[in-house]
Amino acid sequence: GLVVASLLKDTGMVTVDPGFMNTASCESQITYIDGEAGVLRYRGYPIEQLAEQSSFLEVAYLLIHGELPSPADLTAFEDRVNRHTLVHEDFRTFMGTFPRNAHPMAVMASAINALATFYPESLSFDDPEAVELATVLILAKTRTITSYVHRSSKGEPLLYPDYSRGYVEDFLRMTFAAPYQQYDPDPRVVAALDKLLILHADHEQNCSTSTVRIVGSSHANLYASVAAGINALSGPLHGGANEAVLKMLAEIQANGGDATAFMTRVKNKEPGVRLMGFGHRVYKNYDPRAAIVKQSADDVLSALGAGNELLDIARGLEEIALHDEYFVSRKLYPNVDFYTGLIYKAMGFDESMFTPLFALGRMPGWIAQWREMMTDPQTKIGRPRQVYTGATERDYVPGDRR
Ligand code: ACO
Repeated sequence: GLVVASLLKDTGMVTVDPGFMNTASCESQITYIDGEAGVLRYRGYPIEQLAEQSSFLEVAYLLIHGELPSPADLTAFEDRVNRHTLVHEDFRTFMGTFPRNAHPMAVMASAINALATFYPESLSFDDPEAVELATVLILAKTRTITSYVHRSSKGEPLLYPDYSRGYVEDFLRMTFAAPYQQYDPDPRVVAALDKLLILHADHEQNCSTSTVRIVGSSHANLYASVAAGINALSGPLHGGANEAVLKMLAEIQANGGDATAFMTRVKNKEPGVRLMGFGHRVYKNYDPRAAIVKQSADDVLSALGAGNELLDIARGLEEIALHDEYFVSRKLYPNVDFYTGLIYKAMGFDESMFTPLFALGRMPGWIAQWREMMTDPQTKIGRPRQVYTGATERDYVPGDRR
């Protein structure tokens, strides 16, 4: 990446590093990535083992507290989160005031921000009990809010939570059940979504996580900081790629399903034509999350008997890319987004729900990173420098002489 050094009068040398390609903003013990080797670990545990053997709330606990919980601690944590999934009636009313066609990420960010007004006792940044309460409240309410985002887009009422069910199972029930109807989500779908949320739970200092940290560095509370993270994630360059993949696959299908013809357009660099869901700023190898998602896509789609034609097109594109000089020489491999959209769609989610699901999964990571920063003695308020390139000093010209 480009790093330009520049001399400032007050502090001496500074670097200009657009996109922070070469700037580490912190030390962290949470997530390890080796992009060349395709390795991702949370707190030292390989993502493959966590996805296979752990659960989303256990991973949340691990990211936030640093160690895997004992069975008793996990049960206590799950119970506490579960018991907070109900939202205040006034909050329900507030949520009901957004227009039906509202941008789901705008609703989500507004809702998390508004939570702060309902729980003033949890706003302290340095009282550990208040921070723990805010942590549990946010994990619990984000689930309810995410299901609400789906329901409100359909004009359907928000359902009450069922404390006897697990986090992901009850999220699916609250999202898809008809009011007053028994609804038991397919256990394979529950397991697959749990896995996808684990894969999204943290990814070190990406755009939204860096945003959460910089907002929190002013000692803004946890709600304000993670709401800012949701807003950062709402940008199509960050949270929107899985939606773009699905559109691409549908377009190829509509044009007769010819993957080779599409790849020729990609390689010819036709304007606006990229193989969406391929390539990554950090991974220059197979994104380890993509390998897990691919397996999941096979399982879920064959279990639900849905969307196989699009999956076949996706597999075809990957097959071509893995043996094509263009992709091999540029180290372009599938990223986590290549197969997730297909799974979400098969589960019954609209495309507009893909990024809210990403936010639901990423919440533990944002919280863990905020908490780590708040207890790190090295933390200072985030305040990058700039190199000024504007006009030199000049005199004000009154309007009648301009
Ligand atoms: N399809 C075709 N060519 C590609 C692709 C792609 N998906 N990605 C990169 N390239 C090519 C570029 O054209 C460039 O070629 P060149 O050297 O001949 O000019 C080379 O590979 C390097 O690409 P850069 O854009 O410089 O790589 P960068 O690290 O900046 O970009 C990015 C990474 C943005 C993810 C890119 O690969 C891309 O646009 N991918 C498609 C969108 C996508 O899937 N985004 C999701 C990212 S993961 C996430 O946000 C959770």
